[in-house]
Formats: sequence, C-alpha cells, structure tokens
Amino acid sequence: MVNISLKDKVVIVTGAAQGIGRAIALKMAEAECKGLIVNDLRIDDHARSLAKEAESYGTEVLLIQGDMCKEKDVQKLIDSAITKWGRLDIMVNNAGIAKANDLFTTCGEDWDLVITVNLRSVFLGMKYSAEYMKTHGGGCIINMSSIAGITGGNTSPDYGASKAGILALTKYGAKLLAKYGIRVNALAPGTINTDMIKRNFENLDDEAREKRLTAIPMGRMGTPEEVANVALFFASDLSSFITGDSLMITGGRNT
Ligand SMILES: NC(=O)c1ccc[n+]([C@@H]2O[C@H](COP(=O)([O-])OP(=O)(O)OC[C@H]3O[C@@H](n4cnc5c(N)ncnc54)[C@H](O)[C@@H]3O)[C@@H](O)[C@H]2O)c1
Repeated sequence: MVNISLKDKVVIVTGAAQGIGRAIALKMAEAECKGLIVNDLRIDDHARSLAKEAESYGTEVLLIQGDMCKEKDVQKLIDSAITKWGRLDIMVNNAGIAKANDLFTTCGEDWDLVITVNLRSVFLGMKYSAEYMKTHGGGCIINMSSIAGITGGNTSPDYGASKAGILALTKYGAKLLAKYGIRVNALAPGTINTDMIKRNFENLDDEAREKRLTAIPMGRMGTPEEVANVALFFASDLSSFITGDSLMITGGRNT
C-alpha cells in the first residue's frame, strides 16, 4: 500500500483563498499535515471555509492576509509558522495574476505589475523559506509556473515571461539549495478551471474560446485538484530524487 502522508509537516500556500492554491492547501491537509498557513491578499469567507475544511482532517490552520510582493509580508508568513509550530517544511509559492492583454495593449504598468506579482513573490518566498530550511534540516519549495513559461504563452507577453522566470529561479534554487536538503520544483499547468481562466475567457469571442479548448488533446480544462495532486507528489518523499524540475499538467497540450 502506498500512503502519502505529510504527518508532522508544516506547509505554507500563498494565494490560497481560491482556485489552485485552495486545492493545494486542501490536498496538504488531506495528507494530514500538522500545520497549514493559508495566505491571500484578503481573508474572506472562502478562506474561512477552506480553514474549516482543512481542520476537519486534523490540520491546524492559520489564515494570514498578506501581499507576497512585499518583503515584510513574506517574512511574516515564515515567522508565523515557526512561532506557532517551530518548523516549516513545505513552501508553495502559488500567488499569481494574469492580464487579458496582447503585445500591443500591454502597457509598462501592466508589465511591471504582472512581473512583480508573479516573479518577485516567488523570489521572496523562495529566499525567506530557504533561509529557515537550510539551517533546520531542509524542506521542499514548490513554485507555480505555467505552460506559458515553456511555450511563451498565447496572450500577454508579461505572463509567459514571468512564468519562464519562475522556471529559471526553480533551477537556480535547486542547484544552490540541494546541499541543505532543500528540493525546489515547479508546476506548469495548462488551462485549469478557475476564476483566472474564467476572466480570461470572458475576453475571448466564441471562436477563440473554442480554439483554446480544442488545443487541449484531452478536450477539457484541468481541475485545480489535478494540479494539487502533483503538488502533493512534489511535497512528499515519493519525489525524493527530483529537484530543479517542472511538470506540465496540461491534458497533453504543449503549444
Ligand atoms: N488557472 C490556470 O489555468 C493556470 C494555469 C497555469 C498557471 N496558473 C497559476 O496558478 C496560480 C493560481 O492561479 P488560479 O488560476 O488559481 O488563479 P485565481 O485568480 O483563481 O487565484 C489566485 C489567488 O492569488 C491571490 N493573489 C494574487 N496576488 C497576490 C499577492 N500579491 N499576494 C498574495 N496573494 C495574491 C488572489 O487573491 C487569488 O486568491 C497563479 O500563479 C497562476 O498564474 C494558473
């Protein structure tokens, strides 16, 4: 019998009030992690209901509001885990945004915002979690990239660039941190059914929407839980010899 258990582990998931982050947080609780920090820009009823569900697996939950672009807010998450549980084992840098632009409608401000939210937040999350993990027996860092980071994406230029940067940061971190027992891997989902994709699809006409779906060989969007399953694999000892890697969760789409 294969049993994936995160017993005694403490996990942080950023941008976890909804969507993929929420599914990852719940999956970690389902694997019976000891402590879970759920972070988001706002802590609302969605986050509170997530905490209740996670607690039903026996996991202790802290809901912490914070902007992952801000150094102090990231540090606060790490400090909170250590103060409450005396450890941090798994850091999931999931928070991210997308703008429905193309090359010609993207302005400098949009570019800066997307790059900052998506890339700076992962850099800060990796830096401050590794700073603790390297002197406390290691850990796991999971960064949220995207198929757009591999293919360049098909919409806004900033999104694919930020997600490609995350793949580079993941490889960099893996090489630097392996000697401390820290593994760093990335998730590269395709089209996953969340509010982000709903907002994105609202800006497409029927033909473009159809084209996006038929580009997926499996003929459907993925679910947040299908991404969370891979996050659990990366967080667990089943992936103990994997670092600096990424896994596409795309239903076969590779363009
Ligand atoms: N949905 C997809 O198809 C898809 C595909 C590939 C990658 N991704 C990536 O997965 C991650 C989650 O996406 P999602 O689809 O669940 O999106 P979502 O919009 O449903 O959820 C993202 C969450 O991140 C939070 N967030 C945004 N900026 C933040 C910040 N600065 N600090 C803290 N929290 C912040 C938001 O409030 C929101 O709750 C993102 O990094 C996204 O780029 C999504």
